[in-house]
Parts: sequence; structure tokens; C-alpha cells
Amino acid sequence: MERFTLDNRYGKYAGQELEILFPEDRIRQRVRELGQQISSDYQGRIPIFIGVLNGSFIFFSDLLREITIDGEVDFIKISSYANETRTSGTVRLLKDISCDITGRDVILVEDIIDSGLSIQFLKRRMLESEASSVRIAAFLIKSCARVDFEIDYVGFQIPDRFVVGYGLDLAQRLRNLKSIYAFK
Ligand code: IMP
Ligand code: MG
Repeated sequence: MERFTLDNRYGKYAGQELEILFPEDRIRQRVRELGQQISSDYQGRIPIFIGVLNGSFIFFSDLLREITIDGEVDFIKISSYANETRTSGTVRLLKDISCDITGRDVILVEDIIDSGLSIQFLKRRMLESEASSVRIAAFLIKSCARVDFEIDYVGFQIPDRFVVGYGLDLAQRLRNLKSIYAFK
């Protein structure tokens, strides 16, 4: 297997070429903007930030440090299997939240919205638990995503390509890359 060098603009991983979509500094800038927006929208409230494991952990920790209001933190873990049509499929809950969200303002923090299956499941679940509001912060959203509600905070919209880095994996690897890369 070929080594992927982290500091190159182009690299190869397992023989496949990677190209940078969003470099570190652009990510940092965008995450700062999202943090400022959320802090201003939630002024005077204490939302619960719920990170969707595993992919969101890096975005989550960067975003949280750009938040200037009080907030609480929890995590949820799911796995989704979209079928061929990508509009239906199964979502499995692997780890639930530990906090009581009844009457609370929830902000779900996702790494990427692809089919939209996961985020629809999560939003419905939060509302069923009687959160008083549920908003979504997604670092990336693919142009193919189909959701029947607004995604409140979006880092970047991307074409329908497989991306890695900044928490996003290929078979659990490459999460440690500091930029977002797409396979060519
Ligand atoms: P969805 O349910 O189809 O929207 O899929 C969402 C989940 O699939 C994300 O939270 C990611 O964990 C994973 N995923 C979707 N697209 C990509 C990608 O391009 N790279 C890495 N993971 C992805
Ligand atoms: Mg995810």
C-alpha cells in the first residue's frame, strides 16, 4: 500500500489519487463563521450540542471552541445502510445520548449529509424525545442529499463525491487528515 503524505496538495492512498477540496485554513475560517452564527442565534439560551459519532468528532471539537455562549455536550452513535434508491434504508442506534433533552434546545452536529437518511432519523428521534427545538449543524452536505427540512448550519456544499479527512473516514482510516480530500 502506498503511503499518503499529509502535507502534499495531491497524494495517493492505496493507489488511488486524492485531491484537496478544502484546505485547513479555509475549514478553520468557515467553522469560525458557523460558531459565530450559532452563538448569536442562541444568545441567552443554553443549547445541548449532540455530536454524531464517529465522523463529527473533529468538526465538533473545532466548532465548540468557536462557540462563545454556554452550552452542554453529548454524543450519539448510529450506523445507516441506505439501499440502492438512497431514499430509504435502515438506521441503527449504536449509542444513545445520556442526557435528558426534554424542553431543551438541541443542536445536532454531523460530519456530512449524504442520502439524508441518518439526519432524518436523528431529527425525528430528538423531536420524539420532546426537545423544544432541534437544529442541525453539518460540516458538509452533498448535492444529492434529500431531506424534507432545512439544514440550519452548513459548512460547505459538495458534489456527489466520496471525501475523507477532518474526521471523515474510508473504512475507519484517514480521519486524521487535516484537510478535506476527494478521491479522483
Ligand atoms: P446518510 O445517512 O446517507 O446521509 O449518510 C451519512 C453518513 O454516511 C455520514 O454521517 C458519514 O458517516 C457517512 N458518509 C457519507 N458520505 C461520506 C463520504 O463521502 N465520506 C465519508 N463518510 C461518508
Ligand atoms: Mg456521520
